[in-house]
Amino acid sequence: MIFFLQFFPLFVRFLPMANRSGALPLLMLIFLTWRGGMPCCAITVDPPEDLAVLDSGRLGRLEIVWRLPSSLMNMTKCQLQYQLEYFNAYKNKWEVLRTLSTTYSAQFDLSKDVQVKVFTILNGECTNNKMIKSKDYSELLVKPPNTGIWDTEATDFTCMYHNMENLECIWTSSQRTPASAQQNLFFWHRLLEQAVECPSYIFSGGVRKGCNFTGKPLPEFSDIYFCVNGSSSEGPLKPAYFSLQIQNHVKAAAPDKLNLQTRPDRHLEISWENPAGKFSVDCLEWEVRHHHVGADGTILSKQIHARNPSLTLTFNNSSEINCFKVRSRLNSYCVDKSIWSDWSPETCHPEMKNIEPTVEPEMTLVSVYIYIAVAIVAILMVSLCVWAAINMKKSKPGKKVDSLLPKLIPKTLTLGVSKICSSKKITTDVMV
Ligand SMILES: *[C@@H]1O[C@H](CO)[C@@H](O)[C@H](O)[C@H]1NC(C)=O
Ligand SMILES: *[C@@H]1O[C@H](CO)[C@@H](O)[C@H](O)[C@H]1NC(C)=O
Ligand SMILES: *[C@@H]1O[C@H](CO)[C@@H](O)[C@H](O)[C@H]1NC(C)=O
Ligand SMILES: *[C@@H]1O[C@H](CO)[C@@H](O)[C@H](O)[C@H]1NC(C)=O
Ligand SMILES: *[C@@H]1O[C@H](CO)[C@@H](O)[C@H](O)[C@H]1NC(C)=O
Repeated sequence: MIFFLQFFPLFVRFLPMANRSGALPLLMLIFLTWRGGMPCCAITVDPPEDLAVLDSGRLGRLEIVWRLPSSLMNMTKCQLQYQLEYFNAYKNKWEVLRTLSTTYSAQFDLSKDVQVKVFTILNGECTNNKMIKSKDYSELLVKPPNTGIWDTEATDFTCMYHNMENLECIWTSSQRTPASAQQNLFFWHRLLEQAVECPSYIFSGGVRKGCNFTGKPLPEFSDIYFCVNGSSSEGPLKPAYFSLQIQNHVKAAAPDKLNLQTRPDRHLEISWENPAGKFSVDCLEWEVRHHHVGADGTILSKQIHARNPSLTLTFNNSSEINCFKVRSRLNSYCVDKSIWSDWSPETCHPEMKNIEPTVEPEMTLVSVYIYIAVAIVAILMVSLCVWAAINMKKSKPGKKVDSLLPKLIPKTLTLGVSKICSSKKITTDVMV
């Protein structure tokens, strides 16, 4: 290609003439034939030998090794290079690179096929300084080990990096996972010699379902590889592999110190702070939810996107109410993606006691029920007392209230009611 570009001006100069004479195809043909038949190709370049991949327990970080072809062993005045191609299952594409070395480390998804090809490339005096790539290549295809009970691999592996301080990862177990199974999480990154087990498991119903990395920081902007495997009385579980960079899973703490200030020029200034985290404030963005209750009681809700931790709005009518809450996340200048924080508590202007409209009705309803219940009980008591008093008057003077009550209410209550009634009796007597 480079060669072609060098001669391109020449071609362009000849092009009008060639085109007129209809000789362009001919010219191209000559050019191509000449290129293909260039001298120098006396050497046959063989592909590398003994291609192999070595697994040293790094969750898919495999070492690819090969040797130079023995036919080229005694070649002097030659520059040897290799072209390595391997399938990156995480990116779903072939990676192509050139190296002088006979070894290369690459990351593979161990639950998929490992596919590698290597070519030999010769250059230097021995080839008239022309680069020659071997026609053939060495190839390796390694199928994933077929171990583990079918359909028992963990799924939905997600991590949350709380305020860029505490990392927690959870997964979902397959429904086919035997009840006796115990799952393990292993992880590896470039700073580790070997895969390491989860420092502290998160349990749900006595079963491992996640890992808490608090106090064991993992590197940011670096691929972390995870494997969830396990064993059970019915045999090993199928391992599942995942990979991510933790800075893309940050959930910031909810903003706080939400402050509202009115300015004399009918402006409302809202400002807030994010609790300290490891990130700079330049990496944050916010969403403000504004509830507006107009003087006529109409409620309006809107979301405002904010790049700075403050906002100024026109404050329209002194009889209106404005409520705000804020949430934050890392912006796309700093990370590829981020999770919204929880909402800050809501703050209103003018200040209101109960700002959560969803909570208030329930509270009132509950207290109304209690009042009604108390009122019914009180009415019942009074009527009972009145009825008892009237009955007592009608009956023989010796007969007591107590003897009438058990027919209506259980014994335990009888004592209390009779006591209340005896004290009330006086008033009833007076009244009657
Ligand atoms: C390369 O040279 C060594 C020692 O000079 C010799 O034993 C070997 O057979 C040679 N190999 C080839 C492929 O010519
Ligand atoms: C993870 O560990 C930290 C510190 O020990 C603790 O505060 C947090 O609650 C743990 N998270 C879970 C989900 O157990
Ligand atoms: C799980 O994976 C780790 C790391 O590769 C390995 O050391 C361990 O033996 C595996 N456990 C099971 C039960 O397969
Ligand atoms: C005041 O009114 C304007 C226009 O109707 C509106 O855009 C603005 O959000 C209002 N300000 C507040 C604080 O409600
Ligand atoms: C505020 O709104 C109420 C009801 O719509 C209206 O009566 C009042 O004049 C308004 N006040 C101002 C200052 O606009």
